[in-house]
Amino acid sequence: MTVSGSWERAARGAMLLGDGGELSPTIFAEMSALATATGAINLGQGFPDDDGPPEVLAAARQAISDGINQYPPGLGMPDLRLAISEHQQRFYGLAVDPDTEVLVTAGATEALAATILALTEEGDQVVVFEPFYDAYGATAALARTELVTVPLPAPDFRPDLDALRDAVTDRTRLIIVNSPHNPTGTIFDRGTLELIVELAHRHDAIIVTDEVYEHLTFGVPHVPIATLPGARERTVSISSGGKTFSTTGWKIGWITAPHRLLAPIIAVKQYLTYVNGGPFQPAIAVGLRLPDSYFEGAATSLAHRCALLSGGLRSAGFEVLSPQAGYFVIADAAPLGITDGAEFCRQLPARAGVVGVPVTAFVREEHRDGYRSLIRFAFCKREDVLERAASQLATLR
Ligand SMILES: Cc1ncc(COP(=O)(O)O)c(C=O)c1O
Repeated sequence: MTVSGSWERAARGAMLLGDGGELSPTIFAEMSALATATGAINLGQGFPDDDGPPEVLAAARQAISDGINQYPPGLGMPDLRLAISEHQQRFYGLAVDPDTEVLVTAGATEALAATILALTEEGDQVVVFEPFYDAYGATAALARTELVTVPLPAPDFRPDLDALRDAVTDRTRLIIVNSPHNPTGTIFDRGTLELIVELAHRHDAIIVTDEVYEHLTFGVPHVPIATLPGARERTVSISSGGKTFSTTGWKIGWITAPHRLLAPIIAVKQYLTYVNGGPFQPAIAVGLRLPDSYFEGAATSLAHRCALLSGGLRSAGFEVLSPQAGYFVIADAAPLGITDGAEFCRQLPARAGVVGVPVTAFVREEHRDGYRSLIRFAFCKREDVLERAASQLATLR
């Protein structure tokens, strides 16, 4: 019985892994391999190519020298939890108890996985906005839940509010919000956030909000959904130091949530990684306490780099769908006569020495019409790299 049970599970797992399954190898891996093989400029993956603030890097080196190299506490180091709680108060006026309402995780990715695994049961529905960050679909599949998508149509990627109303039902367990949004760079407006809170109340759903781009906004304020009336008590807020401090390889993320929601997440997290990144935890605490000028400077510098790449894409003949935040810009290749963005991305390294990712990679097969000519390019790169990419792209004309 046990043996056949495990075979059944394995067979179901194979369906997740098979061609087009939620856990099949991604186009990101294919495109990064192509960048390595061809020497093309990799604007496919969202990692910065310069270092984060020197104080933060120095704090990590110091922590290693000071012997902070063993397992940190399961919830995360107390001083980092305090820094996270101070950060929520300082930027958003949210009071968070560092001892009972904060959990440090292995990046936002583990925070998402632990949350989805802890708070859902097989067959529950999980609502996401599509295009969506691939980890949502993969983890929802691991948890044997059913993904329900609300489209964000080009060119402005705002959700249709009637579609949102239809998507949330009494079977909805989680509504996953990602604002600022990857891949589109959209920031949800207040009306959309208010409707999400209203629907969560009506159908007794939990809001999970992924805010990893919270500080990288271009003139449009980021409003955490937990600050809306009636939201905090049913919201799990997730963020990470990777994007804000250009330390994506450190994988220090966190959750803030009411203890009632956090307790089962802590239980699951223990068996995913238990803990991670000992010496990086005090360093991220230093980052979270940097003055406002650091956070403003990071956003301004990124907005400048966005403008640089966007200008290059426009001169190359793309239509640029300008982001309000984040690491990425979406360019429409339709004016260049392109109808299949995935195929175009496979040719782009040879044609222009640049790698991008088709937006269809963030959209389920059956919903891809409307996104087929769109390409996502990362601009979290050094200016000289973006200038080179822009001049190489100009050869496409
Ligand atoms: C929307 C979104 N959520 C989560 C992550 C992953 O964050 P982390 O590296 O902290 O796990 C990313 C990284 O690209 C992202 O874009």
